[in-house]
Order: sequence, then structure tokens, then C-alpha cells
Amino acid sequence: MQPYLIAPSILSADFARLGEEVENVLSAGADVIHFDVMDNHYVPNLTFGPMICESLRKYGIKADIDVHLMVKPVDDLIQRFADAGASYISFHPEASEHIDRSIQLIKQNGCKAGLVLNPATPLHYLDYTLDNLDYVLLMSVNPGFGGQSFIPATLDKIRQTKQKILESGRDIRIEIDGGVKVDNIRAIAEAGADMFVAGSAIFGQQNYRDVITQMRNELAA
Ligand code: DX5
Ligand code: ZN
Repeated sequence: MQPYLIAPSILSADFARLGEEVENVLSAGADVIHFDVMDNHYVPNLTFGPMICESLRKYGIKADIDVHLMVKPVDDLIQRFADAGASYISFHPEASEHIDRSIQLIKQNGCKAGLVLNPATPLHYLDYTLDNLDYVLLMSVNPGFGGQSFIPATLDKIRQTKQKILESGRDIRIEIDGGVKVDNIRAIAEAGADMFVAGSAIFGQQNYRDVITQMRNELAA
């Protein structure tokens, strides 16, 4: 498993130039493209759907696309995103009627399956799901918007999640989403995370390569 993955969130990209933005951030050193799907129902904001994912594939984007579903219900969109070229698909357990069924649906479609826990969602959602998961996405802000501040209590939640993963004996990533910056990425990695979503920290700067390189330097330090 590649040790650390940096996943820019295109929520903070310039949508009028989305293909170019994705190309630029990948050539600046990003590993994975984080794709925030919001439905103005499960979260109070509205973004993009499977058509945009498919357009990025048609445009020629080959990198893994990490689809973060902030939608309710989830199952119909799992199928459609898998068909549209998603590589990773995660969903919030509160938004699914049948959590195990949603996980199986992601895997049957050949995608990596992740469960997303909001800041106040307890870890017991992992009790009967962890064995089937490829990653756990811990929200370090409340979902719905980019540019929020990292919630410090997440660090302890990462440590507890890492402990559960070690006990499971499986290779399961911990992805962190919300308020990830150059100045906190190292502490987040030290707590046990290995996949980092960053929206405003990357797309808010002129030079994407500089930010991603600084993040990698922090991770290597
Ligand atoms: C929030 C989204 C995040 C968001 C992160 O609901 O899931 O992926 O884009 O944005 P930043 O990095 O700006 O906190
Ligand atoms: Zn996200």
C-alpha cells in the first residue's frame, strides 16, 4: 500500500475549468481526486453528480476518483457513480437504510468501499462493518462546506480508529476530510491517518505544486 495519499477536493476548484484544474492538481503531485457529492437534503449544499465524474473520465483523467457521497438515499447513486468511473465510494451510515447492503453494492461494482463518520458519529458503526471496508473516512468538520476549521477532537478519534484497524489485522486506510492544511497534516498522520483530503488548502493557492510538496515534506519529516 502506498504510504500516504493526498486527495485534493475539487469542491474548491474552479468548476468552469474543471478538467484543466484536475489535470493541474495531478501534475502538481496529487494522488487521488476527491469528489464531494452533496444533495441539498442530507447536507445543506448542492454540488455535482455522476455526469461530471463521467465527463472527467471522457476528458482523459486516469487517476483514482474518490467519491464522497453526502446524499440520502445512497444506493442508486452508488450504482451510477460506479458506472461513471468512480474508484473509491464512501457514504454516511446515517443516510443508508441498510449499511451492509450499501457496502456490498460498492464492492460488487469493483470499487473500494468506505464508511464516513461525522464528527459526532460514534465509532461503533465500525463494529460490524470494518471487515468489509477498504477505508474509513473520518470527517474533521461537519459535512457540507469547504474552508472550515479542523475539529481537534478528531485526532483522538483517529487514534481509536487506528487501534480498531490494528486489531482487525486488515489493511484499511484512514482518510481525513476537512480543514487539512500544511500546518496540521503531520499531527494527523502521526495519529494514524494515511489519506488526506484538502480542498481550500490546495485550490486556494496559486501554485498547487508548492502546497502539495510542503504537505509531503511535512509527512516525511
Ligand atoms: C466537506 C467536504 C470536504 C471539503 C474539504 O463536506 O467533504 O471534502 O471539500 O474542504 P477543506 O479542505 O477546504 O476543509
Ligand atoms: Zn469530502
